[in-house]
Amino acid sequence: MRIVKAIYGWFDRRYNITPLIEKNVTKKRVPKTLGWAACFGGLSLLIFLVQVFTGVLLLMYYKPDPANAWDSVTFIKSNVSMGWLVQRIHTVSANLMIVMVLMHMARIAYYKVYRTPRELHWVSGVVLLMLTLILAFTGYLLPWTQLSYWGAKVGTEIPGAIPVIGEDIVRWVRRGEAISGETLGFFFALHIWIIPATISAFMAMHFAMIRRTGISRPL
Ligand code: HEM
Repeated sequence: MRIVKAIYGWFDRRYNITPLIEKNVTKKRVPKTLGWAACFGGLSLLIFLVQVFTGVLLLMYYKPDPANAWDSVTFIKSNVSMGWLVQRIHTVSANLMIVMVLMHMARIAYYKVYRTPRELHWVSGVVLLMLTLILAFTGYLLPWTQLSYWGAKVGTEIPGAIPVIGEDIVRWVRRGEAISGETLGFFFALHIWIIPATISAFMAMHFAMIRRTGISRPL
Protein backbone atom coordinates (compact mmCIF):
# COMPACT_ATOMS: atom_id res chain seq x y z
CA MET A 1 0.00 0.00 0.00
CA ARG A 2 2.85 2.35 0.92
CA ILE A 3 4.47 1.82 -2.48
CA VAL A 4 1.17 2.61 -4.27
CA LYS A 5 0.88 5.82 -2.20
CA ALA A 6 4.48 6.76 -3.04
CA ILE A 7 3.90 6.22 -6.79
CA TYR A 8 0.61 8.16 -6.64
CA GLY A 9 2.33 11.00 -4.71
CA TRP A 10 5.10 11.17 -7.33
CA PHE A 11 2.57 11.61 -10.15
CA ASP A 12 0.36 13.92 -8.06
CA ARG A 13 3.23 16.35 -7.35
CA ARG A 14 3.87 16.59 -11.09
CA TYR A 15 0.36 16.50 -12.57
CA ASN A 16 -1.85 17.71 -9.69
CA ILE A 17 -4.31 14.81 -10.03
CA THR A 18 -5.99 15.06 -6.57
CA PRO A 19 -8.06 18.22 -7.24
CA LEU A 20 -9.30 16.65 -10.50
CA ILE A 21 -10.40 13.45 -8.71
CA GLU A 22 -11.99 15.48 -5.88
CA LYS A 23 -13.90 17.70 -8.29
CA ASN A 24 -15.17 14.87 -10.50
CA VAL A 25 -15.49 11.88 -8.17
CA THR A 26 -14.90 11.99 -4.40
CA LYS A 27 -16.31 15.47 -3.66
CA LYS A 28 -18.69 15.72 -6.60
CA ARG A 29 -22.01 17.15 -5.45
CA VAL A 30 -25.14 15.19 -6.35
CA PRO A 31 -28.78 15.84 -5.35
CA LYS A 32 -29.56 14.78 -1.76
CA THR A 33 -32.77 13.00 -2.83
CA LEU A 34 -31.02 10.50 -5.16
CA GLY A 35 -31.27 7.32 -3.03
CA TRP A 36 -30.01 3.79 -3.67
CA ALA A 37 -31.78 3.30 -7.01
CA ALA A 38 -29.37 5.78 -8.59
CA CYS A 39 -26.52 3.28 -8.35
CA PHE A 40 -27.51 1.09 -11.31
CA GLY A 41 -26.02 3.31 -14.06
CA GLY A 42 -22.64 3.31 -12.30
CA LEU A 43 -22.90 -0.45 -11.66
CA SER A 44 -23.56 -1.04 -15.39
CA LEU A 45 -20.32 0.81 -16.13
CA LEU A 46 -18.42 -1.12 -13.45
CA ILE A 47 -19.57 -4.49 -14.80
CA PHE A 48 -18.69 -3.43 -18.35
CA LEU A 49 -15.13 -2.75 -17.12
CA VAL A 50 -15.05 -6.17 -15.41
CA GLN A 51 -16.12 -7.71 -18.75
CA VAL A 52 -13.34 -5.94 -20.64
CA PHE A 53 -10.74 -7.04 -18.08
CA THR A 54 -11.83 -10.71 -17.86
CA GLY A 55 -12.44 -10.80 -21.66
CA VAL A 56 -8.84 -9.76 -22.35
CA LEU A 57 -7.62 -12.56 -20.03
CA LEU A 58 -9.83 -15.13 -21.81
CA LEU A 59 -8.53 -13.92 -25.18
CA MET A 60 -5.04 -15.11 -24.25
CA TYR A 61 -6.22 -18.74 -24.66
CA TYR A 62 -9.43 -18.66 -26.72
CA LYS A 63 -9.25 -19.83 -30.36
CA PRO A 64 -12.06 -18.53 -32.63
CA ASP A 65 -12.42 -21.42 -35.08
CA PRO A 66 -14.87 -24.36 -35.06
CA ALA A 67 -12.13 -26.99 -34.69
CA ASN A 68 -10.60 -25.40 -31.58
CA ALA A 69 -13.14 -23.07 -29.93
CA TRP A 70 -14.75 -25.67 -27.62
CA ASP A 71 -11.38 -27.25 -26.73
CA SER A 72 -9.86 -23.87 -25.92
CA VAL A 73 -12.71 -22.95 -23.55
CA THR A 74 -12.46 -26.38 -21.87
CA PHE A 75 -8.70 -25.82 -21.56
CA ILE A 76 -9.29 -22.41 -19.91
CA LYS A 77 -11.77 -23.95 -17.44
CA SER A 78 -9.70 -26.99 -16.47
CA ASN A 79 -6.01 -26.31 -17.15
CA VAL A 80 -5.32 -22.58 -16.93
CA SER A 81 -4.56 -21.31 -13.42
CA MET A 82 -7.72 -19.53 -12.12
CA GLY A 83 -9.14 -19.88 -15.65
CA TRP A 84 -12.42 -21.37 -14.34
CA LEU A 85 -12.87 -18.30 -12.11
CA VAL A 86 -12.20 -15.77 -14.88
CA GLN A 87 -14.53 -17.65 -17.23
CA ARG A 88 -17.29 -17.83 -14.57
CA ILE A 89 -16.95 -14.13 -13.70
CA HIS A 90 -17.22 -13.27 -17.41
CA THR A 91 -20.36 -15.41 -17.90
CA VAL A 92 -22.13 -14.32 -14.70
CA SER A 93 -21.26 -10.64 -15.26
CA ALA A 94 -22.70 -10.78 -18.79
CA ASN A 95 -26.08 -11.61 -17.25
CA LEU A 96 -25.60 -9.14 -14.40
CA MET A 97 -24.83 -6.31 -16.81
CA ILE A 98 -28.16 -6.83 -18.58
CA VAL A 99 -29.98 -6.87 -15.21
CA MET A 100 -28.21 -3.67 -14.07
CA VAL A 101 -28.98 -1.81 -17.33
CA LEU A 102 -32.65 -2.85 -17.09
CA MET A 103 -32.84 -1.74 -13.42
CA HIS A 104 -31.21 1.58 -14.39
CA MET A 105 -33.77 2.00 -17.17
CA ALA A 106 -36.61 1.12 -14.76
CA ARG A 107 -35.53 3.90 -12.37
CA ILE A 108 -35.40 6.41 -15.21
CA ALA A 109 -38.87 5.35 -16.40
CA TYR A 110 -40.35 5.32 -12.86
CA TYR A 111 -39.15 8.84 -12.00
CA LYS A 112 -39.85 10.06 -15.57
CA VAL A 113 -36.41 11.70 -15.72
CA TYR A 114 -36.18 11.10 -19.49
CA ARG A 115 -38.14 14.34 -20.06
CA THR A 116 -36.68 17.63 -21.34
CA PRO A 117 -33.72 18.30 -21.33
CA ARG A 118 -32.77 14.61 -20.97
CA GLU A 119 -34.39 13.08 -24.10
CA LEU A 120 -31.03 12.27 -25.68
CA HIS A 121 -29.81 10.58 -22.48
CA TRP A 122 -32.71 8.18 -23.03
CA VAL A 123 -32.01 7.74 -26.75
CA SER A 124 -28.30 7.02 -26.20
CA GLY A 125 -29.38 4.72 -23.33
CA VAL A 126 -31.65 2.68 -25.63
CA VAL A 127 -28.71 2.26 -28.04
CA LEU A 128 -26.57 1.13 -25.07
CA LEU A 129 -29.23 -1.43 -24.09
CA MET A 130 -29.33 -2.83 -27.65
CA LEU A 131 -25.53 -3.00 -27.81
CA THR A 132 -25.38 -4.74 -24.42
CA LEU A 133 -27.83 -7.39 -25.67
CA ILE A 134 -25.84 -7.88 -28.90
CA LEU A 135 -22.65 -8.18 -26.85
CA ALA A 136 -24.16 -10.99 -24.78
CA PHE A 137 -25.71 -12.70 -27.83
CA THR A 138 -22.45 -12.73 -29.83
CA GLY A 139 -20.49 -13.97 -26.79
CA TYR A 140 -22.94 -16.85 -26.34
CA LEU A 141 -21.80 -18.47 -29.62
CA LEU A 142 -18.08 -18.36 -28.81
CA PRO A 143 -17.80 -21.56 -26.67
CA TRP A 144 -19.23 -23.41 -29.73
CA THR A 145 -21.41 -25.80 -27.69
CA GLN A 146 -24.74 -27.28 -28.78
CA LEU A 147 -26.50 -24.59 -26.72
CA SER A 148 -24.47 -21.82 -28.39
CA TYR A 149 -25.12 -23.23 -31.85
CA TRP A 150 -28.90 -23.54 -31.42
CA GLY A 151 -29.07 -20.23 -29.55
CA ALA A 152 -27.39 -18.49 -32.49
CA LYS A 153 -29.57 -20.35 -34.99
CA VAL A 154 -32.83 -19.30 -33.30
CA GLY A 155 -31.58 -15.75 -32.53
CA THR A 156 -30.41 -15.05 -36.07
CA GLU A 157 -33.76 -16.23 -37.44
CA ILE A 158 -35.57 -13.29 -35.76
CA PRO A 159 -34.75 -10.64 -38.43
CA GLY A 160 -36.22 -13.08 -41.00
CA ALA A 161 -39.68 -11.86 -39.91
CA ILE A 162 -38.98 -8.42 -41.45
CA PRO A 163 -40.83 -8.18 -44.80
CA VAL A 164 -38.81 -8.12 -48.06
CA ILE A 165 -35.29 -7.67 -46.65
CA GLY A 166 -35.57 -10.09 -43.69
CA GLU A 167 -33.99 -13.12 -45.40
CA ASP A 168 -31.07 -11.02 -46.67
CA ILE A 169 -30.41 -9.74 -43.15
CA VAL A 170 -30.40 -13.32 -41.80
CA ARG A 171 -27.85 -14.36 -44.47
CA TRP A 172 -25.76 -11.26 -43.73
CA VAL A 173 -25.69 -11.89 -39.97
CA ARG A 174 -24.87 -15.57 -40.45
CA ARG A 175 -22.32 -14.86 -43.19
CA GLY A 176 -24.10 -17.51 -45.29
CA GLU A 177 -27.10 -19.81 -45.19
CA ALA A 178 -26.28 -21.63 -41.94
CA ILE A 179 -24.39 -21.09 -38.68
CA SER A 180 -20.78 -21.97 -39.57
CA GLY A 181 -17.16 -21.06 -38.94
CA GLU A 182 -17.83 -17.83 -40.86
CA THR A 183 -20.53 -16.92 -38.32
CA LEU A 184 -18.15 -17.71 -35.46
CA GLY A 185 -15.43 -15.44 -36.92
CA PHE A 186 -17.93 -12.62 -37.48
CA PHE A 187 -19.44 -12.91 -33.98
CA PHE A 188 -15.94 -13.03 -32.51
CA ALA A 189 -14.97 -9.75 -34.23
CA LEU A 190 -18.23 -8.16 -33.07
CA HIS A 191 -17.82 -9.46 -29.52
CA ILE A 192 -14.22 -8.54 -28.81
CA TRP A 193 -13.83 -5.33 -30.71
CA ILE A 194 -16.66 -3.75 -32.72
CA ILE A 195 -19.41 -3.80 -30.04
CA PRO A 196 -17.17 -2.91 -27.04
CA ALA A 197 -15.68 0.02 -29.02
CA THR A 198 -19.16 1.23 -30.02
CA ILE A 199 -20.43 0.84 -26.42
CA SER A 200 -17.44 2.90 -25.18
CA ALA A 201 -18.26 5.66 -27.68
CA PHE A 202 -21.94 5.74 -26.68
CA MET A 203 -21.05 5.65 -22.97
CA ALA A 204 -18.75 8.64 -23.47
CA MET A 205 -21.65 10.44 -25.18
CA HIS A 206 -24.10 9.36 -22.41
CA PHE A 207 -21.76 10.60 -19.66
CA ALA A 208 -20.93 13.87 -21.45
CA MET A 209 -24.66 14.62 -21.73
CA ILE A 210 -25.25 13.75 -18.06
CA ARG A 211 -22.40 16.07 -17.04
CA ARG A 212 -24.05 18.85 -19.01
CA THR A 213 -27.51 18.51 -17.48
CA GLY A 214 -26.45 17.09 -14.10
CA ILE A 215 -28.35 14.21 -12.52
CA SER A 216 -32.05 14.99 -12.05
CA ARG A 217 -33.61 15.68 -8.63
CA PRO A 218 -36.44 13.24 -8.08
CA LEU A 219 -38.84 14.22 -5.30
C1 HEM B 1 -24.36 0.33 -20.47
C2 HEM B 1 -25.44 1.00 -20.19
C3 HEM B 1 -25.55 2.26 -19.35
C4 HEM B 1 -24.64 2.88 -18.51
C5 HEM B 1 -23.23 2.44 -18.18
C6 HEM B 1 -25.30 4.07 -17.98
C7 HEM B 1 -24.74 4.93 -17.06
C8 HEM B 1 -25.39 6.02 -16.49
C9 HEM B 1 -24.93 6.79 -15.34
C10 HEM B 1 -23.63 6.49 -14.57
C11 HEM B 1 -25.84 7.76 -15.12
C12 HEM B 1 -25.80 8.84 -13.99
C13 HEM B 1 -26.32 8.25 -12.68
C14 HEM B 1 -27.71 7.66 -12.77
O1 HEM B 1 -28.69 8.39 -12.97
O2 HEM B 1 -27.80 6.42 -12.66
C15 HEM B 1 -26.89 7.64 -16.11
C16 HEM B 1 -27.99 8.49 -16.23
C17 HEM B 1 -29.00 8.35 -17.17
N1 HEM B 1 -29.19 7.28 -18.02
FE1 HEM B 1 -27.89 5.73 -18.27
N2 HEM B 1 -26.56 4.16 -18.53
C18 HEM B 1 -26.76 3.08 -19.35
C19 HEM B 1 -27.92 2.75 -20.04
C20 HEM B 1 -29.06 3.54 -20.05
C21 HEM B 1 -30.36 3.14 -20.60
C22 HEM B 1 -30.66 1.76 -21.19
C23 HEM B 1 -31.19 4.22 -20.48
C24 HEM B 1 -32.64 4.36 -20.93
C25 HEM B 1 -33.11 3.82 -21.99
C26 HEM B 1 -30.45 5.30 -19.84
C27 HEM B 1 -30.92 6.57 -19.60
C28 HEM B 1 -30.37 7.47 -18.72
C29 HEM B 1 -30.95 8.75 -18.33
C30 HEM B 1 -32.27 9.36 -18.86
C31 HEM B 1 -30.10 9.30 -17.36
C32 HEM B 1 -30.28 10.63 -16.61
C33 HEM B 1 -30.88 10.30 -15.27
C34 HEM B 1 -30.98 11.48 -14.36
O3 HEM B 1 -30.62 12.58 -14.74
O4 HEM B 1 -31.44 11.25 -13.23
N3 HEM B 1 -29.18 4.84 -19.58
N4 HEM B 1 -26.60 6.56 -16.94
